[in-house]
Formats: sequence, structure tokens, C-alpha cells
Amino acid sequence: MLFSRALLLSLLTALLFEYARSKRINCKDKCCEFVEGFPVRLKHLRSSYSQIQDYYEENDDLETALLNRTVLENVKSPYGCHVMKEILYFYLETVLPTAALEVKSLYKKPIDAIGNIFLELKRELAKCRNYFACEKPFEISTIKDSYNQMAGKGLYKAMGELDLLFNYIENYLASKRQKA
Ligand SMILES: *[C@@H]1O[C@H](CO)[C@@H](O)[C@H](O)[C@H]1NC(C)=O
Repeated sequence: MLFSRALLLSLLTALLFEYARSKRINCKDKCCEFVEGFPVRLKHLRSSYSQIQDYYEENDDLETALLNRTVLENVKSPYGCHVMKEILYFYLETVLPTAALEVKSLYKKPIDAIGNIFLELKRELAKCRNYFACEKPFEISTIKDSYNQMAGKGLYKAMGELDLLFNYIENYLASKRQKA
């Protein structure tokens, strides 16, 4: 399934319109301008895709979705920009180049057009990390760094917070209990 019906476009829309909701705003920076201007690019994405969509839908005979609800939920999470970047990377590195090799030359232009906008979006996501309020997935190294910065005091901090950890463990395991 190269291109599914719901496809990436709804994911893009979900991500970008989180930030560009309703009213027009006066942008003070490039990231804001990119997001506010994105509907124009979405139009290009959709019109490019409309030239090739039938071909892919006719040839798609698998029932399972690739870009399913799990993907959408992850895009909407605080780590959304990382997820979005990974998906764009997958399309840019694997899906679109394979598609471009496989089709007649008539279809190459819309595929390229989609790829160019994806590439641009991927760059902007990286540049505008703060604007997208994108959180990194939690990393244990942040705790270890803080511990080390506390030098000798870190030990007392870590041991002094054991009661907190017991609560976390209790909550976690309680959430895993089978419902009777
Ligand atoms: C979505 O797809 C992924 C990968 O194929 C799979 O692991 C996940 O269970 C699917 N989620 C749903 C809700 O079907």
C-alpha cells in the first residue's frame, strides 16, 4: 500500500492546524509564516496527488492501513514533530523514490512535487522545533546529567526521593493489573 486514502495529508493537516487554528494572526517570525502559509502548499499536495491517486487506489488491494489511528495519535502527542519527521523521512527516502522508479514518466512530476514539499516541511520542522513546542521523547540521560551536576549531593537527592519512586512503581504496576 503505497498511498492510502486517508494518507499523510490528514496527518499534516492535524499537525499544522493545531498551530494555525481559526483566526488570522500577524506573524513575527518565519516559522509562524510557514505554518500560516501552509494551506497553499496543502493545495499543491492535493492537486498533485489527484493526478496519481486513482492509479494507486486501484492497485491497492490490502486491507490493513499503514497510516492508521496509532500513527495519528502519535502525531498529536507532545512528540508529534519527531513522529512527523520520521514519517516524512520514510516517504522521502523509501516510498516516493520507489514510486518514481516504478511509474510512467507522466506521473513523475506530481511525485516530485509532493517530495519537494515534504522535504521543505521536514526542514521547517527541524528549524522550528521551538515553535512547534516539540518535546523530545523522555531520555534517562537527562536524569543522569542532573544527578552528576549535583555532584556528591546527588546521592542524597536520589535516595531521598525513593518514596516518590515507590509511588511511581505502585501506580505503574497498578495500571498493569488485569481487571478482575
Ligand atoms: C497501526 O499500525 C502499526 C504498524 O503496522 C501497528 O503496530 C498498530 O497496531 C496499528 N494500530 C491500529 C490501531 O491498528
